[in-house]
Amino acid sequence: MDIAVIGSNMVDLITYIDEMPQIGETLEAPNFEIGCGGKGANQAVAAAKLGANVMMVTRVGDDLFAENTIRNLQKAGVDTQYVKSVAGSSSGVAPIFVDKSSQNRILIIKGANNHLLPADVEAAADALKACQLIILQLEIPLETVYAAIDFARQHQIKVILNPAPASKALDIGYACQCEFFMPNETELAILTGMPVDSLDNIYRAGRSLLDKGLHNLIITLGHRGSLWMHGEHIDHVPPVSVHAIDTSGAGDAFIGCFAHEYVQHGNILKAMKMASAFAAYSVTGKGTQRSYPDAPQFIDFLKTLHQGK
Ligand code: RIB
Repeated sequence: MDIAVIGSNMVDLITYIDEMPQIGETLEAPNFEIGCGGKGANQAVAAAKLGANVMMVTRVGDDLFAENTIRNLQKAGVDTQYVKSVAGSSSGVAPIFVDKSSQNRILIIKGANNHLLPADVEAAADALKACQLIILQLEIPLETVYAAIDFARQHQIKVILNPAPASKALDIGYACQCEFFMPNETELAILTGMPVDSLDNIYRAGRSLLDKGLHNLIITLGHRGSLWMHGEHIDHVPPVSVHAIDTSGAGDAFIGCFAHEYVQHGNILKAMKMASAFAAYSVTGKGTQRSYPDAPQFIDFLKTLHQGK
């Protein structure tokens, strides 16, 4: 295996809205879609669709969503040997609201994801040892995230830690053991308590984390591109400009593509540029995983970008 994702899966319930109702108000929304999501599963599917060998360690419920989630991962080419169900629990569910400007607001009900425990990492140990890269997010218990980081350190496996959703309880000491720490700007603001309303403020907030001992801090900035901060260096990868319809899952698309690229060639800036293009493609379609291109679609998209230059 190239990549292991130890993380979440959710069923995305996406409502496209003209405006948010006020308290006590009922409003009609124009559209609704249901799809497979969850930050972990999104990242796994993004990498697998591009051709990476990906395994996922996750927990589904014992409801009617579970089978569909597993089937969906398998269809994308993700190894599901370590996807287990939790008796008596619902699957994770995410009501998402996407507004007319394509921006999203997400609630998560973790369900079975709350039952992904350090023992699950241990149970998958033999398969995990063979991976080059482990990807983690924070939609599962922190103790499991820490166990996975300890495991990766013992076996010299590189880790991408995506601190999403942001949790102030996260022990930054663990983040410092990871090769990559990848928040978006909102998560950066929550984790640091600092403003992120300008690039200078983002640099300052990022610097405050690097000073704690992070190796590579990659901040995704949506329509402003992404930043790689390491040591005294800052590299800004500009955005790929597209007409956005739905930004849900774009950060996960970035991480999944970045991981696939990184294990291929190890060039961080090149991986970020490809990940920016992949995430840009994803915002042109509705949904999360559903909007990710496979390898041939992505190659065609890259050609159109080069022709447009
Ligand atoms: O990052 C987007 C994802 O966040 C959605 O798929 C939703 O399930 C939540 O986990």
